[in-house]
Amino acid sequence: MSTDLATRIESEVRRRRTFAIISHPDAGKTTLTEKLLLFSGAIQIAGSVKARKASRHATSDWMEIEKQRGISVASSVMQMEYRECVINLLDTPGHQDFSEDTYRVLTAVDAALMVIDAANGVEPQTRRLLQVCRARNTPIVTFVNKMDREVQDPLALMDEIERELGMTVVPFTWPVGMGKAFHGVMDLRQERMRVFAPGEDRAAGEEEVLQGLDNPAYAERFGMQYDQAQGEIELVREAAPAFDLEQFLAGKQTPMFFGSAVNNFGVQEILDALVELAPAPGERTAMQRVVKPEEPKFSGVVFKIQANMDPAHRDRIAFLRVASGHFERGMKLKVVRSGKELRPNTVVSFLSQRRELLDEAFGGDIIGIPNHGVLQLGDTITEGEALQFTGLPFFAPEMFRSVEVADPLKTKQLRAGLTQLGEEGAIQVFRPIAGSVLLLGAVGQLQFEVVAHRLEHEYGVKARIMPSRFQVARWVTCNPEDGGEKELKRFIDANDHRMAYDAVDAPTVLVEYAPELRAIEANWPKIKFHALREHA
Ligand code: G4P
Repeated sequence: MSTDLATRIESEVRRRRTFAIISHPDAGKTTLTEKLLLFSGAIQIAGSVKARKASRHATSDWMEIEKQRGISVASSVMQMEYRECVINLLDTPGHQDFSEDTYRVLTAVDAALMVIDAANGVEPQTRRLLQVCRARNTPIVTFVNKMDREVQDPLALMDEIERELGMTVVPFTWPVGMGKAFHGVMDLRQERMRVFAPGEDRAAGEEEVLQGLDNPAYAERFGMQYDQAQGEIELVREAAPAFDLEQFLAGKQTPMFFGSAVNNFGVQEILDALVELAPAPGERTAMQRVVKPEEPKFSGVVFKIQANMDPAHRDRIAFLRVASGHFERGMKLKVVRSGKELRPNTVVSFLSQRRELLDEAFGGDIIGIPNHGVLQLGDTITEGEALQFTGLPFFAPEMFRSVEVADPLKTKQLRAGLTQLGEEGAIQVFRPIAGSVLLLGAVGQLQFEVVAHRLEHEYGVKARIMPSRFQVARWVTCNPEDGGEKELKRFIDANDHRMAYDAVDAPTVLVEYAPELRAIEANWPKIKFHALREHA
């Protein structure tokens, strides 16, 4: 590799910022996403992201999911340039039944932007996502939205976020008033006030900015809201520690910003924070070794698979996070799991919402490879090296159904459809050792409905989804020092009436009641039972 390319890779990686935007539904994630694109110049007019959510509330639950799935592939990953940086923004599905997908998206990012509705505080869906971020020590930037409404007291909110996150909150801005009396925010670091004006027309840099935190003119202009803010700021400054970049990067401190996305207020501070504070792509762990993003050879991992919306063409897009090196269109790549060669010519990037052909990509970027089942969730792609990235989570399902076809002649289509939906991560499919009926496992009820709907409309199979007696699943393994494969086989043979294999042939034990599982665990001390499977 030329030193020119090596230098380029290094500088391109350094200017990448890859983050996910997380929130409870309705907190303002879509609105903020759109405003980030607008302020970075990636789109010119607001409305394109929001359009996708039109009439959402009028539809039934699973229709909503259909809609969400219908969002063009391009809008779940967006790339924009801001200042000297390339920002990759990953959307996370809102519905809780699809949180598995969200968890996997979170493995592909280096930081997260959390949007909180200032009236509702930390809501359930946010809480679950935060747990995943916490487990991975993902740095989080907090945006408290909807300050133009009557909301919670900011000190109480700060306290709640701190408790829920288990992180120290460091306010970078502080609100002056709220609702109809929202006057703006104090920028605590630059010691100035940004004055709020409602409306969506303002572009970056058009805000009224007043210098100083305690300018005597403020009291007259902003009245009691200013007095109150001043008191709060004093308290906050005494109580909150100074911002520490190391602590933020370790997921121990979160900078907090107040604003109103719909009014374009506070958006620019978020972009600045992402560029200035969020980390560039870091190392990623494979089973064999640690991979650095500036390494010359390309490597990447599939963290999401999305079926194309056109049912006539069953192609799917595999979303790959580039872990290292330089990707070029048409280069020869290898799927490590299968050893298959891949020469993607039609790789797509997600520049400002348009799905367009991509010529090159660097560590931290997300690329989309259309394929017909060659790529599975968790696959590692390299230029030839045998690497398997770890950390892509699969959760043991919490609900089970068995599935049969109404028309026995369609058995083959059912299997094909389920295999594909399983590979996509829409559902988990298990093949029990005993019997021929397939088992479906999900974390949310809605997943079954969507699968039945998709089987019918995309694969022409009317499936009967029936109750199953199973309630708990655990993947089973056995360490070499405990007897390894031999002991595992002994376990499988002894339990064949409740054993099944999942989409990647990992053995799974299925039981009806949790106490039954405890009994099995006690009887088989050398076998390990896992509620989480980490790689393909
Ligand atoms: P989501 O993606 O997190 O689900 O939320 P989304 O952006 O769709 O926002 C949810 C609702 O909150 C929308 O209203 C949106 O306009 C509103 N919203 C977003 N930011 C702000 C804000 O800063 N202040 C106020 N007052 N409202 C905000 P909607 O009625 O559901 O939709 P729409 O008809 O307004 O588009």
